[in-house]
Amino acid sequence: MRTKIVAGNWKMNLDYQEGLALFSEITNMIKDEITGKQEAVICSPFIHLSSLVQLAKGYNKVSLGAQNAHQAEAGAYTGEISAKMIKSVGAQYVILGHSERRQYFAETNALLAKKTDIVLSHGLKPIFCIGETLAEREANQHFAIIKSQLEEGVFHLGVEDFSKLVLAYEPVWAIGTGVTASSAQAQEIHAFIRAEISAKYGKEVAEGITILYGGSCNPKNAPELFAQPDIDGGLIGGASLKSRDFVDILSVFN
Ligand code: PGA
Repeated sequence: MRTKIVAGNWKMNLDYQEGLALFSEITNMIKDEITGKQEAVICSPFIHLSSLVQLAKGYNKVSLGAQNAHQAEAGAYTGEISAKMIKSVGAQYVILGHSERRQYFAETNALLAKKTDIVLSHGLKPIFCIGETLAEREANQHFAIIKSQLEEGVFHLGVEDFSKLVLAYEPVWAIGTGVTASSAQAQEIHAFIRAEISAKYGKEVAEGITILYGGSCNPKNAPELFAQPDIDGGLIGGASLKSRDFVDILSVFN
């Protein structure tokens, strides 16, 4: 059985007090309502991370993650945060390659390959995001784009490191737009991703990798999306800022 994960991506939202308050609401609801083996991951801004790790102690279904990490070990990179720092506060995950990072911060597959290496070297698990834009889908390039994101971003990894990844398929046209990929569209890509992994690393590795769907996922559409055989959970933006919505999505796996 693959690990089922619902990860919240808070992006650049919530000040410190707001973040702590939302997190307390979420953990209280999880304690009362979550009965399955699914895992919640909250990917907060860096500022909140250390405090949230402390608040999460005692809740074994809740982990913390960052939304980015720098590709260098340390040094003169004013304003940046390293994987070692993220690890040192007790976080476990790092989102890498989110389409907003690719778009607004010019992150390329080659850069993301370096970030993946350093994050793994510090014992953190990347939540590695891939997905096509609307123009790429309309030009029928979505399979080729996904394939190159995998090949250039993560397929350099050895099998042991690769097995530590969580992947997230996030069609760019579905992020924050209210337009969700249909469950059939999402399943088609997830199955394709798993087939590519199988061709590269073998069937057993492919069957073990958790692949999340992200893009306007909410409590209404999550049950159908998560019922697909190759969808193992979600990466949730907007709906992760509402405790009720986030925990309702998580409870689909109860
Ligand atoms: P959304 O964002 O759920 O608001 O569409 C998802 C994401 O960007 O990870």
